[in-house]
Amino acid sequence: MIKAAIFDLDGVLVNTSNFHYAAWRDLAGHLGFTLTDEHNERLKGVSRMSALEIVLEIGGLSNLTCEEKLRLAEIKNKRYIDYISQLDESCLLEGALECLNKFKERKIFIALGSASKNARMVLERLKITGYFNAISDGTRAIRAKPDPEVFKIAADDLGVPYDQCLVFEDSIAGIMAAKTAGMKTVGIGDERILHMADITYKSLKEYVLNNQNAL
Ligand code: BG6
Ligand code: MG
Repeated sequence: MIKAAIFDLDGVLVNTSNFHYAAWRDLAGHLGFTLTDEHNERLKGVSRMSALEIVLEIGGLSNLTCEEKLRLAEIKNKRYIDYISQLDESCLLEGALECLNKFKERKIFIALGSASKNARMVLERLKITGYFNAISDGTRAIRAKPDPEVFKIAADDLGVPYDQCLVFEDSIAGIMAAKTAGMKTVGIGDERILHMADITYKSLKEYVLNNQNAL
């Protein structure tokens, strides 16, 4: 019996994943190397600083100081904020509102489980903050996905046992995090990439279409 639906944000509810990727590509370009779509799969879901470490490893830049790393993370974040300056309800991914409404109608708790420190701002811009009974984000979780902390905080806020939580995720790190917490997982995206998930759909729209009675 599912009592809570926990949603990742970027790439599940909203199309901001492209903007994270674009901002990382800009930074890599500035540092003199290129990022590929395959590299990007490793950046999805992980915290800003963990993603930076991965980017630096890809570029073969291993000996930067802490201050330099913080400065690069800041540059990336400014770029990302520029990219999402026009964000509004039209950027919600297909099926997102329908899915949130279905869970709300069925009195299933709704929570956010996102690595992003910008999550609250994004929810506000999308005008969907009111749907969430709990918000666990990058300002609360110290350990990055694949650590399960961000999802456990959400479930603990709601007082729901982990095995009664259903997590929607578009990243490999996020699916691993939810599984480690003992939660059920729905991958949103390409099932060849998210093969560890219990089940995968291309979008939330497809999830809703295929789970009319069982949501
Ligand atoms: C996740 C994204 O939701 O948030 C990652 O999938 C991103 O790509 C992470 O690195 C952290 O986001 P932010 O907004 O705190 O830099
Ligand atoms: Mg995501």
